[in-house]
Amino acid sequence: NYYAVLMAGGVGSRFWPVSTTTFPKQFHDMLGTGETLIQKTFARLTKIIPAQNIFILTNERYASLVLEQLSEVEERQVVTEPAMRNTAPCILYAALKIQKENPDALLAVAPSDHWIENEDAFIAGLQKSFDACAKKDILMTMGIQPAFPNTGYGYIQYEKEETAIKKVTQFTEKPDYETAKQFLSEGNYLWNAGIFIWSARSIIHAFEKFQKDMVALFRKGSMVYNTEQENDFIQENYPLAENISIDYAILEKADNVYVLPATFDWSDLGTWGSLYDKLDKNAAENAVVNARVVSEDASGNMIRTATDKVVVVDGLEDYIIVDKEEVLLIYPKKKEQDIKGVLKKVVEKY
Ligand code: GDD
Ligand code: MG
Repeated sequence: NYYAVLMAGGVGSRFWPVSTTTFPKQFHDMLGTGETLIQKTFARLTKIIPAQNIFILTNERYASLVLEQLSEVEERQVVTEPAMRNTAPCILYAALKIQKENPDALLAVAPSDHWIENEDAFIAGLQKSFDACAKKDILMTMGIQPAFPNTGYGYIQYEKEETAIKKVTQFTEKPDYETAKQFLSEGNYLWNAGIFIWSARSIIHAFEKFQKDMVALFRKGSMVYNTEQENDFIQENYPLAENISIDYAILEKADNVYVLPATFDWSDLGTWGSLYDKLDKNAAENAVVNARVVSEDASGNMIRTATDKVVVVDGLEDYIIVDKEEVLLIYPKKKEQDIKGVLKKVVEKY
């Protein structure tokens, strides 16, 4: 009864110029290991979930990339969205489809573009969560020990109890800086890793409670799901769904949320700096992908070239140096959040 819903519809614009709307970061080999992020994620999940039960949710423009990169995946496993409506609509749609195939399905909902180390601990955590969700009507998430008041994450306040799986008292999506700081000083908070486990039954039940309109919209199509008429229904109705993430739509509202504190190492690889942090560094503390670097008086740099290329750096500290055929980016790591905006300017100008 184990299934996975792999979310692969994001754009990853802070990883420009490598990640673009036509070729987003989950389809790139960001770590320089020979595998793309989605390939790594898929392989990790097959350690506990049968490959044919892994569904990939993505915008229709990326369907061919998914099929190209995941050779084990059949077309029926690629669930395409005609419009970007964030994570709540696609999770509900997938849950209804899968429930039609298997009413007792247990789902792991996971991003396709994260970095996880200690895969055995991750798999053990999934197993524990599946077991809990098979027994009770609960919604589970995996929690990460917070390191600093990051305002881009969800915060999970949990009950201090000795059990491995803890009851969530309050889920707060993307708090402001002061609130995040407050949470950290209180101590019993975790970051939401964005990896959820629940039965198809429980998540649909939660949508029925908190997102009645969305359920009504997607239930209208129940009869044609997994048939040839499905695509027509989705083309017409998917764009009508509210644009909202699962965190705001369900997790902030539900009172049956539980958290398993992660025992694996996790990063959402949101920026070039977070990628730098996770990569091995050379003697001069530069992280290098694909390039051969000659450096002097240069450290803390994230250097990536599209192909094998010699890069000479002198007198540069904490910079992002990334090339792609037609673009070269040289940008301070401390301003990495602004790359989204830079991309806008570039698009306007060129
Ligand atoms: N299929 C599909 N369709 N996938 C999507 C869509 C969509 O419309 N929008 C986003 N995704 C995918 C992204 O590719 C990513 O893998 C995942 O869903 C989460 O979306 P993000 O846009 O990256 O969310 P976030 O980073 O703002 O916040 C979420 O993740 C944090 C951890 O990384 C939340 O769950 C936070 O609470 C959490 O802390
Ligand atoms: Mg994210």
